[in-house]
Amino acid sequence: MRKQIAAANWKMNLTSVEASQLLNELLATPHSLQAHQEAIFAVPAIYIPLAVEKLANQSNVFVAAQNCHQKSTGAYTGEISAPMLASVGVKHIVLGHSERREYFAESDALLAEKLNAVLAIDSTPIFCCGEPLAIREAGTQNVFVEAQLKNGLFHLTAAQIVKVVIAYEPIWAIGTGKTASSEQAQEIHAYIRSVLATQYGEAIAQEISILYGGSVKASNAKELFSQPDVDGGLVGGASLIATEFAAIINALK
Ligand code: PGA
Repeated sequence: MRKQIAAANWKMNLTSVEASQLLNELLATPHSLQAHQEAIFAVPAIYIPLAVEKLANQSNVFVAAQNCHQKSTGAYTGEISAPMLASVGVKHIVLGHSERREYFAESDALLAEKLNAVLAIDSTPIFCCGEPLAIREAGTQNVFVEAQLKNGLFHLTAAQIVKVVIAYEPIWAIGTGKTASSEQAQEIHAYIRSVLATQYGEAIAQEISILYGGSVKASNAKELFSQPDVDGGLVGGASLIATEFAAIINALK
């Protein structure tokens, strides 16, 4: 079975004390992960060592970064590279979140470079895609997302693409409380998988986990994750509440 993943995206939230408390609360809240399931915490970079230490004894639990620079070292003041993240225990790096595409002008071409940087050190990229509201209203979301995949990912070889996790996050559903219906999520996830199958073959497409993101919460996770092509979620707001995120982990299939 494909990996089923509950990924928390803390974004730019919490102080160090609050981060520590949240992880403690989460560890104290009943949740369980089967062999094919993972929980991933994309915490602010400064809290990575803290999270790695706290989660060290948990199986199938990983600490992720929310971004990295495309170069491995050099004169890039304020930036953090993929090898630096790996050196403190990070195995997954979120790339191309819509907030980074929008507020930090990350282009598909730049994301393609970042993907190469992450794959070069054998880490797992969590590659985000998803359309804005106007595109959804025009009904052209499939074409839009397909272009993001082609431009960002399709330079990868088959051996590389199987290491990528894709997160489909419709921008109109992020932080808005408006979730895509499970039918809408399934429809576009199946489309994404069909695009992957056309490029890389059905067997490879079947191996790639495709997460849904956008107002996932305890109350809708089970329904979303029950869809055959929805392999878990990338969760913002609800990942900041221990009981919510524990329930989301428990909703994985
Ligand atoms: P949200 O954010 O769950 O708060 O909508 C999801 C995300 O941006 O990854």
